[in-house]
Formats: sequence, C-alpha cells, structure tokens
Amino acid sequence: MTVNLVIGTQWGDEGKGKVVDFFSGDAEYVVRFQGGNNAGHTIKVENEIYKLHIIPSGVIQGKIGVIGNGCVLDPLVLLKEITELKKRNINPQLLISDRVNIIMPYHKILDGADEKILGDKKIGTTNRGIGPCYSDKIARKGIRVIDLINEESLKSKLEMIIPIKQKIFKVYGINKILDLNKICETYLDFGKKLKKFIRPTHIYLSNSIKDGKNILLEGAQGSLLDVDFGTYPYTTSSHVIAAGSSIGTGIGMKNINEIIGIMKAYTTRVGEGPMPTELFDEEGVYLQKKGNEFGTTTSRPRRCGWLDLVIVKHSCIISSITKLAVTKLDVLNRLKKVKICTDYILDGKKINFLPADINEVNKCKPVYKEFEGWSEINKNCKNFSDLPKNAKKYLRFIEEKLDTPINIVSIGPGRKETIIN
Ligand code: GDP
Ligand code: IMO
Ligand code: MG
Repeated sequence: MTVNLVIGTQWGDEGKGKVVDFFSGDAEYVVRFQGGNNAGHTIKVENEIYKLHIIPSGVIQGKIGVIGNGCVLDPLVLLKEITELKKRNINPQLLISDRVNIIMPYHKILDGADEKILGDKKIGTTNRGIGPCYSDKIARKGIRVIDLINEESLKSKLEMIIPIKQKIFKVYGINKILDLNKICETYLDFGKKLKKFIRPTHIYLSNSIKDGKNILLEGAQGSLLDVDFGTYPYTTSSHVIAAGSSIGTGIGMKNINEIIGIMKAYTTRVGEGPMPTELFDEEGVYLQKKGNEFGTTTSRPRRCGWLDLVIVKHSCIISSITKLAVTKLDVLNRLKKVKICTDYILDGKKINFLPADINEVNKCKPVYKEFEGWSEINKNCKNFSDLPKNAKKYLRFIEEKLDTPINIVSIGPGRKETIIN
C-alpha cells in the first residue's frame, strides 16, 4: 500500500497533470484535495491532449478520480468536463466528497468585483469564484454538495445567505438581483445530476488503504500560491502544501509515503505578485515561446524567468518533499548559458530564504550561478546517464542545493517523454 502525493513547488503549472498521469498507473484512486477549476492540468497521451480543471488527471488512465473535501466545486464546470471527456470516449469514474463546498453564482460575481476595486493592486485571480467560495467556507456560510440533494436544506441556507450577498452587492455597486428560487432550482438540478458521485470519500479512501491499494494525491496550484506560505496576498485561497492533502481528503498524515515536488526547470508565474527571477528581456520571451507558456485555464501569458531555488527550497522545507520531478528540461535545450538563482540580495545583504513581507520580496534581487548549456536531448532518452553532460551537471546541482533526490525528469509533454533517475 502506498499513498503518494504530487505537489507543485513553484507558482503552479509545473506539469503536475503530466506527472500525475505518469504515476497513476498502479493507483486505485487519484484524488484532488484543494483548489477548484482555477487549476488547469494538461495530459498528453500520444496525439491526444486533455486539459482538466477539476476532474483528477488519473481518469485518463481509467482510475477513479476523487474530488476531495478540501476542493471547491463549480457543478457547471464539472458537468461540462464530464461531457467533453465522454465525447472523446473517456467515461470518467468519479467520486465527490459529500463535504465539498460549492462555487455559487455570487462567488463568481464577487471575485471579479473585488479585482476591479483593487485596480493595480489586484491579485490577478482566475475569476472562477475560488476566493469568495473559500471565504464563505471559513465564515461558515458555504453550500456543500450534500445540500444540493436536500431541497429543504439548500433553500433554508440560501434564505440566510442571499440577503447578505445582496447587501454586499449594494456596497460594491453591483446591480444584480439574486433570484433565490431560480438559484435553488438550478442547483437542485445540479444535485440530481451529481448525486450518483456523492460519497463520504474519506471512508472509501481509508478502506482502500486498509485493503493495501495505492492512492495518488494530486495537488493543484504551487506552494508559492499557498495561502499561508506563498507570496501572500498574491496567492490562492487554499492550502496547497503537503499538509493540505491530509486536510483536504481525510487521509491521516502518517499514511502518506512519498511527497513528490514538481519543479519546472525554469520559473513561471501567471497573475500578479513578486517573482524575483522574472526576465523582461529576449531570454524571457524565448522561454515563453519555446515553453508555450500560456495559462491552461485563462490563456494569459505566463511570466518567465530562470530557475529560482530559493523558492523551491522553501517548498521543500514546508512540505518535507522527499523526491523531485523536474519538468520541461527540453525547453532549455540549445541555450548557450542557463542560470539558477541560489540566493537573494535584500537591502545589500545576501539571504537564502523567502521573506514573509511582500514588500521585502519585491526588493529581492537574484544571485545567479551560471551553467554551460547543452544542445538537444534525444526524445527517446530513457536513462539519466544518457542526458547531455551539462544537463546532468545542472540537475546534480539542483539535487545538491535542495538536498533532495530527483526521481524523474520530463523532456516533453507526452507520457513517454519521461526519464526515471
Ligand atoms: P499543471 O497545471 O502543473 O498540470 O501544468 P499545466 O498543464 O498548466 O502546464 C504545463 C504545460 O507544460 C502543459 O502544456 C504540458 O503539456 C507541458 N509539459 C509538461 N511537461 C513538459 C515537458 O517536460 N516538456 C515540455 N516541452 N512540455 C511539458
Ligand atoms: P494549476 O493547478 C497557475 C493563480 C492565479 C492568481 C492566484 C489567485 O494549473 O497549477 P485564484 O483564482 O486561485 O484566486 O487566483 O493564483 N493560480 C494559478 N496559477 N496555476 C494554477 O493552477 C493556478 N491557480 C491559481 O493566476 O495569480
Ligand atoms: Mg496549470
């Protein structure tokens, strides 16, 4: 029995979808434990490309996908995603935790409204209602999926919540009337469609562990977007780090075996907030073009820069990462020089940690170590030893600096373009 966990170590889009697909072969369940359809996970199998936002990536390998209690769920998005997959001959096997919070129409309206008011201080959210939904969950005004199959419960909750939202709309100057009956009817209809998936999934997962089966936990976002340990307030609203997987599934921490940190061979970020190694020159444009760095969810261009090991070290510490998976190494092919940020200079002093104060992070200047580049990596390369000498040097430096072994290296988006170390 193993329960392995895959999490992002940067600002998201590290290639979690690809790595989860690669590791799901022997899992009974593949489980999302936080976030919602702000995520966009890409899986490429032969010539087929799948982009999943809320359905766990393991369904592509025919595994049971679980949407854990720590997630927030937009039923409309889920139902659309199921339909899209069915059209492509994949009938996803799904379970939804009965405790999942639902993204409601007013969450989506308020996400956008907040961003408008913030102006140039905006977070650059994905506008999917994620923050407002988690806020309501913590404020204990959330609607859970279980409420969607109980008319009385949904109605009485909406009767309590909608007048409050309507008052908040007024403060924001939003001229929208929330029609309680219509919302109730729409969401009860979602409930009817989702009922067959709703379960106490923590019990299913616990039984799977008792039966000696394997479980793969699929993180969304990246550790630097974690609401506590990320570049707050330029973060998402959930617990992205390893501990979030226990909260968001009900699997006790002692059951988790490997904690696999996914690290892109360089750094990207979508949305606002500090990014010390961001490149504003032609090298940044090169990485963006070669890496096709455009958001899977919002299509926004991703900001690009050299690999920042200060933030990845931070992620290794807060999640006790046991192994690393390095992705997109191929994007660095053919560069004459490649750089790794090992430390920051803050107010004239060298530091090797991420400050909590966002104003200080904004002032951090990267200290780089330069490496000789390499030409091409053979797409059929299967062994670490077959990688170009300079690519190996680059990777060995990362292992040493992070004091964490690299388990796999990804050299292309496809399932097969993966090297096991
Ligand atoms: P996720 O959110 O972490 O799952 O990552 P995304 O799917 O948003 O973005 C990663 C992108 O990189 C996707 O388009 C993947 O198909 C692609 N990708 C993943 N691994 C590799 C790799 O090793 N090389 C290249 N060139 N592309 C990759
Ligand atoms: P995956 O799982 C990259 C970013 C948004 C924004 C901030 C807050 O594909 O790696 P939110 O809508 O969550 O309130 O937005 O977080 N963000 C992501 N960036 N990849 C993601 O997911 C992201 N999910 C949220 O761009 O800066
Ligand atoms: Mg993504």
